[in-house]
Amino acid sequence: MRLDQRVAIVTGGSSGIGREVCLDFARSGALVVVADIQEAPKQGIYHEQDTTTTTVQEVENVGGRALFVQTDVASEKDVERLVAAAVEEFGGLDIVVNNAGIYIPGDSQDLSTHDWDRVVGVDFRSVFLLTKYSVPHLKRSQAGRIINIGSVHSFRGGAGPAYAPVKAAVVNLTRDSATELAGHGVTVNAICPGYIETAIQDYLTPEQIAGARDRTPLPRLGLPSDIAHACTFLASDHAEWITGIALPVDGGWLAPIM
Ligand SMILES: NC(=O)c1ccc[n+]([C@@H]2O[C@H](COP(=O)([O-])OP(=O)(O)OC[C@H]3O[C@@H](n4cnc5c(N)ncnc54)[C@H](O)[C@@H]3O)[C@@H](O)[C@H]2O)c1
Repeated sequence: MRLDQRVAIVTGGSSGIGREVCLDFARSGALVVVADIQEAPKQGIYHEQDTTTTTVQEVENVGGRALFVQTDVASEKDVERLVAAAVEEFGGLDIVVNNAGIYIPGDSQDLSTHDWDRVVGVDFRSVFLLTKYSVPHLKRSQAGRIINIGSVHSFRGGAGPAYAPVKAAVVNLTRDSATELAGHGVTVNAICPGYIETAIQDYLTPEQIAGARDRTPLPRLGLPSDIAHACTFLASDHAEWITGIALPVDGGWLAPIM
């Protein structure tokens, strides 16, 4: 699947899923804008322990072009500046991947209001902001795409009073944006990952990770590349008649009645 010369912004592109999306896009010929609060990759306790190079370096290693723009995705000023930087560097914008996200553990009693607001800001407000500032450019593209990263928690509770509701909201914002933009040929879809091996899992215990493995019907946990391949498909011309969906990429996690 080719994305030759398409310009893509990937938020949270320095680490984990976003980093692999950037690399898969670059291998497919896209020009990549890595938007993240930090350029250095996160190193996890369980996963990504040895990741040291930046995403821009890795894109260049596969023969691609990339630009890093330091961005707090919850900040309207930063997001406006990000879109302007992408268009100035590469001359347009075709694909946006709203991937940046944080998870803060805690139930309604443990989670502070401040942390609830942080999750809503980084995981949800950001999707509205980047959609808002990207749409004028995406409407001019021949193949405008927005891909939002939800979660299996978009469909289930159990991840606390911020993360699960916010990920459900990401899916409904996806449907609303798909409806708004379909007439302009811009597609808007969500991908809902199951357990993916990234540094976001550092809050878990080894026993909880073993539990996630037991709960996943396919015989391994997910890799960032599993999500990246779905992203490249939804960004490609092969997916031009798909819009408004929430695609679980979860090793079968959501399939059984639990
Ligand atoms: N890993 C999983 O199992 C899993 C499962 C379901 C959904 N997701 C979702 O996938 C997305 C990526 O998660 P991941 O596992 O790669 O996490 P990760 O922690 O490995 O990477 C997240 C990236 O987002 C960046 N980031 C954090 N706050 C930011 C901010 N304010 N502005 C800009 N960038 C910021 C981080 O610096 C990091 O590079 C998230 O939306 C997450 O909720 C992950």
